[in-house]
Amino acid sequence: MAIVETEKQGEVAVIRMNNPPVNALSHGLRTGLEKAFNEANADAGVKAIVLTGTGKFFSAGADITEFRAEMKEPYLPQVIDRIEASEKPVIAAVNGTALGGGLEVALGCHYRVAAKDVRQLGLPEIKLGIIPGAGGTQRLPRAIGVEKALELITTGAFIDAAKGAAAGLIDKVADGDVVAEAVAFARAQIGKPPRRIGEKKIDKAAVAAGLFEKARAAIARHPSGPLAPKCAIDAVELTLSLPTAEGTKREREIFREAAASPYARALQYAFFSERQAANLPGIGADTKLREVKTVGILGAGTMGTGITIAFLNGGYPVTIVETTQEALDKGVTRIRDTFSANAKRGRITEAQAADRFAKLTPSLNVEDFGKADLIIEAVFENMALKKEIFAKLDKIAKPGAIIATNTSTLDVDEIAAVTKRPQDVLGLHFFSPANIMRLLEIVRAKKTAGDVMATAMAIAKRIGKVGVQAGVCDGFVGNRMLAAYGGEVQAMNLEGAMPQDIDGALETWGMAMGPLAVSDLAGLDVGYRIRKERKLTGEAAQFARVPDKIVEMGRLGQKTGAGYYKYDANRKRQVDPEIEALIRAEAEALQIRQRSIPAEEIVERSLLRLANEGAKILEEGIALRASDIDTMYLNGYGFPAWRGGPMWQADHMGLKKAAERIKAYEARYGARWKIAPLIEKLAAEGGSFAALDAKKK
Ligand code: CAA
Ligand code: NAI
Repeated sequence: MAIVETEKQGEVAVIRMNNPPVNALSHGLRTGLEKAFNEANADAGVKAIVLTGTGKFFSAGADITEFRAEMKEPYLPQVIDRIEASEKPVIAAVNGTALGGGLEVALGCHYRVAAKDVRQLGLPEIKLGIIPGAGGTQRLPRAIGVEKALELITTGAFIDAAKGAAAGLIDKVADGDVVAEAVAFARAQIGKPPRRIGEKKIDKAAVAAGLFEKARAAIARHPSGPLAPKCAIDAVELTLSLPTAEGTKREREIFREAAASPYARALQYAFFSERQAANLPGIGADTKLREVKTVGILGAGTMGTGITIAFLNGGYPVTIVETTQEALDKGVTRIRDTFSANAKRGRITEAQAADRFAKLTPSLNVEDFGKADLIIEAVFENMALKKEIFAKLDKIAKPGAIIATNTSTLDVDEIAAVTKRPQDVLGLHFFSPANIMRLLEIVRAKKTAGDVMATAMAIAKRIGKVGVQAGVCDGFVGNRMLAAYGGEVQAMNLEGAMPQDIDGALETWGMAMGPLAVSDLAGLDVGYRIRKERKLTGEAAQFARVPDKIVEMGRLGQKTGAGYYKYDANRKRQVDPEIEALIRAEAEALQIRQRSIPAEEIVERSLLRLANEGAKILEEGIALRASDIDTMYLNGYGFPAWRGGPMWQADHMGLKKAAERIKAYEARYGARWKIAPLIEKLAAEGGSFAALDAKKK
């Protein structure tokens, strides 16, 4: 089938877009659409036009890959103007997802009939650091009202067909064949004058006073960064003063300003990086996946319950096993409470909550895993215990079952080696809270089979996680980098940057939460136990002094009302002079002269320690790509997507400069700043992580 095809059904021309996989509005599709509309308008036998897509997509919008080059005519706004200007009634048969430019095309049509199972209608451009650039900010407010449109455009949220109909975006929801119903709708419009959204006047009186001021005040820490949200609000506000044609012209200028920003480039990089992470080299897309219908989870503690909720949400039946009735009951209660809370907040319906909970089988008998296709162990972090468990699971699990450990620090090869089927063993490293955090590190041990990796990747997607491959090493990818960064934070503490200075600098820069505030949230006892087991020496022991003393003071973080900060009843953090005094005393004992560290230095040292460790990880093959590392940081560590990730940041600084700065820190601080050979090499060649990744494709 051609990229655009017209089929005549009597007096109605049905124009079909066919540009797999998502009907992105590439140059080819735009050209095809323009031609098809010109022909249909010129054909005297055609009295009405229906525009539709193929498969699950009406159109997912502009082709994002084209943003990197100069756009070619016909531009999308021209094509949409052409559609809207048709003298014959034009009906969009919204057969599936219509996003961004795709929804803008539908808004250019005179009417919209949507299939009842359409779930994704929206203008998500903000998530890519841009704004709708083909009239969306001008037509959507005219279709559904300024306030509702402003909300959809500044959040990028999707609505479904029913909500679209309630809002006035969809004229008819089709129960049956959407094209047939749109053709019938079109026939009823023949001879009537077209109804163009662009010609509609905005009812200014219906716009709440102060709407735009309020919206501007609410975007201070927007996930898309500082520019696109502001641009989106400015563009929607134009509808109050300009007609559609002029508003759309101005919108295009604002669109260009947002698109040229580093934030937009970072967000688009994040979008493609996340998708690239699912491609595992050497494991073809045609790999036969193992069938996973039932899941067994061992341990109903913090992680076991979170993982169980994630799988129940993904539609899998789960058997959860504990050692005692008490621990089992506690875990099951936590799972039930989470579903009830989600239902109360309107995130799921009561029926969904009941349905999901009904798929849970609690048990005290590990033999019940005999039928499970996937077993995930989430017991205490103890190698002897994990080995004993894996030896047992090896006897219980059916042939071909996938057996995973959620360990965060232990050697997965060593665990796999106690079984007779190491090819079926891997790490599935979830992040806490496991039902919420999107990242899933899929740890490939030496003998893990390709189909096991591919199956794990597919399961990650089904349970709403972003799966990223990691190799076996201490901390895998994410936590190994975090250890380097955490060490630098402690060094800066001792040098005179107080917790609020460090967290403040990084939060102002864009991190969701500074590293010390995160430690307080996670609980300081976790790291304390690991440090005590490791018997640290040298610099590492120095950096442990402040956090160890804080724990020994009984301050375990938010859960005890105090850690690096004090917390009030609402868990709002407050600076604690006692901690400042402790840090000063420890620095004095270590004979470290304190100074005030500028925010820029705090940010630079944090980012470069992350990127330097990331480069070592990349060189060792523990991570497949620099973009995988960034994907982990954006989805598991609160790194702002509009800043791209630590590797992107190093690229953005320029690796030559990054190398110079790292060497300067090495000269000042010694071995912990030893430059990664890969950064040195790429800097000398004028290379970048992005170029290195591109070579691997
Ligand atoms: N342009 C180019 N490629 C796109 C694309 C787009 N708009 N949307 C998706 N793709 C590609 C993906 O990169 C992926 O490619 P690979 O298979 O090679 O990795 C493939 O299509 C399938 O995508 P997903 O894996 O994401 O599929 P999904 O079914 O999970 O999700 C989706 C589908 C909801 C449409 C999701 O891809 C998505 O959110 N896409 C972006 C939508 C968007 O932001 N549209 C606005 C574009 S900007 C715009 O339109 C500006 C304007 O006003 C002119
Ligand atoms: P937890 O202490 O909250 O839960 C462990 C549970 O395992 C307890 O309920 C215990 O009763 C149960 N258990 C112990 N032995 C068992 C056995 N033989 N059979 C069945 N159940 C048994 O611990 P948490 O935090 O859930 O950690 C579990 C694993 O997840 C550890 O390996 C940890 O390193 C890892 N992890 C923890 C993260 C976190 O933030 N807490 C993050 C990522 C991984």
